[in-house]
Amino acid sequence: QELEIQLELLEKGGFDHFMLKEIYEQPRSIRDCMRGRIYPNEGFVQLGGIKEYAEKLKNIDRIIIVACGTSWHAGLVGEYLIEEYARIPVEVEYASEFRYRNPIITEKDVVIAISQSGETADTMAAIEMAKEKGATIFGVCNVVGSSIPRLTHAGVYTHAGPEIGVASTKAFTAQVTVLTLIAFYMAQQKGTITKAKMVELLTELDLIPEKIQRALESNDLIKEIAAKFKDSRNCLFLGRGSGFPVALEGALKLKEISYIHAEGYPAAEMKHGPIALIDEEMPVVVIATKNSSYEKVISNIQEVKARKGIVLAIVTEGDTEVKKMADYVIEIPDASEAFLPLLATIPLQLLSYHIAVLRDCNVDQPRNLAKSVTVE
Ligand code: G6P
Repeated sequence: QELEIQLELLEKGGFDHFMLKEIYEQPRSIRDCMRGRIYPNEGFVQLGGIKEYAEKLKNIDRIIIVACGTSWHAGLVGEYLIEEYARIPVEVEYASEFRYRNPIITEKDVVIAISQSGETADTMAAIEMAKEKGATIFGVCNVVGSSIPRLTHAGVYTHAGPEIGVASTKAFTAQVTVLTLIAFYMAQQKGTITKAKMVELLTELDLIPEKIQRALESNDLIKEIAAKFKDSRNCLFLGRGSGFPVALEGALKLKEISYIHAEGYPAAEMKHGPIALIDEEMPVVVIATKNSSYEKVISNIQEVKARKGIVLAIVTEGDTEVKKMADYVIEIPDASEAFLPLLATIPLQLLSYHIAVLRDCNVDQPRNLAKSVTVE
């Protein structure tokens, strides 16, 4: 018993919980995930795991992404990136829904299955069905040698290392990183972005681990904000564009580990329902970084403030406009829209972590949840 406790302390590497350790590992896990795969100076991406299919990628009409939980959120970011850069239509499906429909799948389709554990029953069943119909299946998994990589035709590992906390953190950002690489790889095969643009994107991607390190420096501030939010009963997360899946993931993290009811919404959809919930007790977390939807998000913040909601905004470093309106702001380093999800996710992970700790919740093993769901 004593030995077990000692061992666990050692494994947590000085952190109070595995989740916090894994949040702090992200600069390194993302670096590991890109190692040997990106060549910023040459504007070149290499993905050994799917290179056999390089030719096929030039002519595909459609990609279907299947996943569950947090991995499904990574899939939504993947959709945004693949459509933006490789100009291939993407559909993102919950594996559990996909497998029980009669989906239209042909030999021309590429299905990307995303799974941290590589063991999720619904995702496996979705793969088997798509395989039977002749589709090419790629896996994006973390656990090397797990079941899903053995079922797929090819794939790209996320190399985030073992994730112990039930709530996924570093596996999510590694999945998003791999999907970014896949989007750029497909763009390279199809010639949909210029060499110069690729050099620019990869140079920026290469700097993301350092920017994540900087985003982690807001930890103390986030802890203070968590103290204000800890007794909330509900929380709304809003984002637009690539910030929308970030909002969904932020809400999922909060409900998973703190048991506060939370919902993620596309900011513009707020007026079609969630706005009815806003009062002086309702915290609204808004992804309000400087990108193409900045002005629109500002008007969404005004709508929340007009109803006395409490706004916590995730903003770009140096922002002044949102600061005037929001009750709390957390800054993240500036980045292109493509990389926003990797950065904006960090403060939301820390926020749910601190809220859960303040509420005395079992952060690493939340009630009723399992790290991998091998039954349907
Ligand atoms: C469970 C875990 C989640 C995970 C989901 C999908 O619900 O608690 O963290 O996102 O399964 O798991 P997978 O291993 O397929 O990514």
